[in-house]
Amino acid sequence: MYRMVSEGSLMESKSSIFLPNTKKMWKERIIFVHMKIEEDYSIKKHTTFGIDADVSYYVEYDSEEELKELIESGFLLDREVLALGGGSNILFCDDFDGVVLHSEIKGMEIVERTEDSVLVKVGAGEVWDDFVAWTITQGFYGAENLSDIPGSVGATPVQNIGAYGVEAKDLIERVECVDTKSAYTVTFENQELSFGYRDSAFKHDLKGLFIVTRVYYRLSLLPSFKLDYGTIRDELQGSETSLQTVRDAVIRIRKSKLPDPSVTGNAGSFFKNPVISNDRYEELLEDYPSMPHYDVKNGVKIPAAWLIEQCGWKGRSQGRAAVCESQPLVLINTGGAYGHEILELSEEIRESVRQRFGIDISPEVILVAAPQEDPSDSLTR
Ligand code: EPU
Repeated sequence: MYRMVSEGSLMESKSSIFLPNTKKMWKERIIFVHMKIEEDYSIKKHTTFGIDADVSYYVEYDSEEELKELIESGFLLDREVLALGGGSNILFCDDFDGVVLHSEIKGMEIVERTEDSVLVKVGAGEVWDDFVAWTITQGFYGAENLSDIPGSVGATPVQNIGAYGVEAKDLIERVECVDTKSAYTVTFENQELSFGYRDSAFKHDLKGLFIVTRVYYRLSLLPSFKLDYGTIRDELQGSETSLQTVRDAVIRIRKSKLPDPSVTGNAGSFFKNPVISNDRYEELLEDYPSMPHYDVKNGVKIPAAWLIEQCGWKGRSQGRAAVCESQPLVLINTGGAYGHEILELSEEIRESVRQRFGIDISPEVILVAAPQEDPSDSLTR
């Protein structure tokens, strides 16, 4: 809820909304009583890359009602809007002339219980791994392989986060959103969201039209584990298989490979693993017989980490940007890097992989204010 002060009078209702059209006017005439709103604000501490960039406005809301009032006030009109969760999958390449919206909507609530499953409704502003930890204590199966992934619940359907053979789409039943134009609540069922590898309709048809406010996850009450991916099974050797031991194993594997963003700025995998055609794979196999690969529906997936390593980038640094030694899919800020430095390094890596293998590795992170990017590609609206 917010109040507006206009020319000396304190107003509270929507009908009395005054729509200034410059930043200065907004600053002078509006007081957001409960909502945190910052102007010309450094986003550094809100992204795991830890990169300094200014945003025109940063707004934190902690309920659907606040978000709706913000939309109805007209504050977002004609402004670029970016929804930011934990900032763990984003690179601000430069300052951002727009409004960054951050959800603090909390709550984890069991809304349905059947013989073998539960449906849990979770606020977009919950920290994802806090939710996973809670599912373990409750004895709910399904989210344990997704332990220790940084970020917020609201980002999970947008990005369809995934790890160790499980993706968010396997758990998501429906997603509640607020329409950025009408401020109405709209609910999407899983099958309406065109989930793919680190992809969903929120990055395409629905882009910019909706802000995620609550996510409904279906979790199993019956023990069932996915242990076939990577080294989970080896990591479990000697201990019984339980929700807690699987979670601990996943956390150990991640910690051994992925740099801790609270120590070293990074956004997890910077690139997606590319999928190439079967024909192209056969051709490459002649030159690289030991090339790792996974058969997928529409071709063959090649680990981008391997491609990057083959091109000699593993552990290399360039100014204040570097390629992680233990997992070359991850780019790191070695201290004080600007977004464009990370971006330049990523482009050089991409170009060298293209030249050597004829494969394009596209970024997994969302690029904001990138110089040659189509701005509509990186913004929610
Ligand atoms: N590899 C190398 N060199 C290395 C590291 C890996 O060649 O230095 C090759 C190996 O062949 C290895 C393969 O890459 O078997 C796969 O490595 P890993 O199991 O670490 O998985 P990934 O494909 O590199 C993906 C996700 C990660 C997720 C892991 C585990 C993407 C873009 N990344 O990485 O997600 O944790 O699988 O499921 O799909 C993230 O999204 O931020 C993220 C960390």
